[in-house]
Order: sequence, then structure tokens, then C-alpha cells
Amino acid sequence: MSQHLNTLAERMIPVVEHEMREVLALEQKRGDPFFGMMHYHMGWADAELLPANVNGGKRVRPLLCLLACAAAGGDWVQAVPAAAALELLHNFTLIHDDIQDASPTRRGRPTLWQLWGANQAINSGDAMFALAHIAMSRLLDRDVPAPIVVRSLRRLDETCLDLTRGQHADMDFENRTEVSVEEYLAMIDGKTAALLSLSAELGARVARCDADIVSRFASFGRELGLAFQVRDDILGIWGDEAIIGKSAATDIVTRKKSLPILYGLSRSAQLRQLYQGDEDGTAFVTKAVDLLEDVGARSFAESYEQRYASSAIGHLEATQPQGNAGEALTELTHSLLNRRV
Ligand code: IPE
Ligand code: IPE
Ligand code: MG
Ligand code: MG
Repeated sequence: MSQHLNTLAERMIPVVEHEMREVLALEQKRGDPFFGMMHYHMGWADAELLPANVNGGKRVRPLLCLLACAAAGGDWVQAVPAAAALELLHNFTLIHDDIQDASPTRRGRPTLWQLWGANQAINSGDAMFALAHIAMSRLLDRDVPAPIVVRSLRRLDETCLDLTRGQHADMDFENRTEVSVEEYLAMIDGKTAALLSLSAELGARVARCDADIVSRFASFGRELGLAFQVRDDILGIWGDEAIIGKSAATDIVTRKKSLPILYGLSRSAQLRQLYQGDEDGTAFVTKAVDLLEDVGARSFAESYEQRYASSAIGHLEATQPQGNAGEALTELTHSLLNRRV
């Protein structure tokens, strides 16, 4: 991480972590079979539900929210409940996503459904969804005016609708042979960019910005989110499993229409043929990755990532971001580009 980003993240993330621990009743519900599964997912408990402190994710969305609030001239401490809500909503989607994608590992550990079964993992995701709303309502405790709190709750639900629409398209595409780049972009706009957009937007709302600046922050977050998902797609094929903490083969095995794969399918008859068969396993994955390499699918995806990141920076500059937080948002954008995790 770069200088300002590093300093501010070290101050902000522990405060959000504390807020989320309160909302998830970590102290009161330690070892509880219901809350414990959520504590495990967040990295605060091990599979026996004993205390742990392991990788709970990058916490990109809360950081984006708090930095946006500060860069917009607001008091970031007031936005902490929104930051916590965004991270909890994100974690709800991951719990369900791992069932939907049949993913055995996340953040280097077995997924909830692997340990406790899909039925109980669905329950944990549902509870996390509800807790995200409770977290957001705590904005009232930080003297954020009620109309902003109600609007934030509504935006959370609207975003959740975009997100599930994106997930619906993602699942639907697995069974389709033809998916256009436009359809793919609409899908990732929903499943990923909508929440990053909301993260920047809510920071600006808590800072009491005018509508045009709020909308600029939202556009910044959206473009950043598009770049972020394209990188996730690249890591889903070429990532180092030991670093990303999730299987690099799943996207190919489940025949995901991620951007590099879409491009590969449009360029390689051999890949199309391979995908139409019912092969799976290591040999299938190796063949598919080789064919993707041959047609330049990785650099194609990287050019999209670069384009969205540049566009994100353009929107950010238009907000005239203030101080170290403004610098940190630029640093965050660059650090997410070419990330390895
Ligand atoms: C993973 O998100 C899912 C996507 C939207 C790409 P992150 O990469 O932010 O996951 P964590 O929270 O850091 O594990
Ligand atoms: C990202 O899904 C979006 C959501 C979880 C809503 P992916 O399936 O692309 O993300 P990973 O790669 O499993 O983290
Ligand atoms: Mg998915
Ligand atoms: Mg997934």
C-alpha cells in the first residue's frame, strides 16, 4: 500500500472492525452455533468456533466509503456504521456466492457450506443480510440526520437488487454458449460494481455533499468496481491459489463466462469445442488455460481493467477530492490494479 492509503487504512479499518464485532455480538455470542458460523466467516473464529484472528478479506468497501467521506470534506467517523453495513452486505453475498459457485475455499479456509452444509450456510447469509441493515441504522447513533439514514437504507436495498440481478445473470450465463461483452458488462455492473459504487456514494452522502458530487463519487466507485471484477476474473484463472485463498480452477470448471473466457470462446474454435464437451478435472483446466493464453485473453482483459481504472480516476478528480484521503483514493485505485489478491 502507498503512503496515505496505508496510514489512513491503519486508522480506519480497526474502527470498522470494532463496529462489525458489536453488530455481530462477538463478545456475547462467542461459540454460539448460530452466530459462530458468521464469526468464522469474518475470520474471528476457527471451525470449532474458538477465537481466531485470520484473514477476513481486504475490507475494500468500508475503506472506500470512509475515504470518500473524508475526501468529500466529511467526518469519516460518522460514516463508520455505513462502512460496516457495506462490508456485512458484501459478506452475505460471498456466503451465498460460494454455494452458488460450488467454491470449496475462501480466504484460504473452507467455505461455510463446506463445513456446515448449504442449508445452514443459507441461514448464515440471510442473518448477515439482516445484520447489514441493523448496522446501517446505527448511523442514527452518530448524529447522521434521519433523512440521510433512511435514504442510505433504501440505497442498500436497491443495490442488493442490482447485485442479485447480476448474480442471476452470472448463473444463467453458465448454461449459455453465447454471451456478448455487453451482457457480461451488465452482469458485473450488478454483481460487483453496484456495491463499490454505493460505498463511495454513501461516504459522500454522510459528508452532506450536493447531488452532483454524490453522483460523481458513485460513478468513481462503479468504474473502480468494473476494473475490480475484471481483475477478479483474471485472478480466477491465473491467480496463485496460495495468495488469493480461493481455487483458481472453479471459474473454468463451472464454465463461467468471465471476461477472459468470453474472449477466448469468441477467438478459439478449439476452446468452444472443449467447453461443449463434459470434460472436467485438471486436464480440462490445463487445456483451457493454454488455449486462453494462446489467444491473448489475459491481455485483452487487462486492457479493459486499465480502461475502467482510468475512467474511475477521471470521476474522482471531478469531485475535487480533499487532503490525504483524496490522495489515498487515487492510491487505492492504483493498488487494486494489478493486485495479486
Ligand atoms: C470478492 O470480493 C468478490 C468480488 C466481488 C470480486 P473481494 O476481493 O473484495 O473479497 P474479500 O472481501 O477481500 O475477501
Ligand atoms: C463476485 O462473485 C460477486 C458476488 C459475490 C456478489 P464471484 O463469484 O466472481 O467472486 P469470487 O471470485 O467467488 O470471490
Ligand atoms: Mg459468483
Ligand atoms: Mg464466486
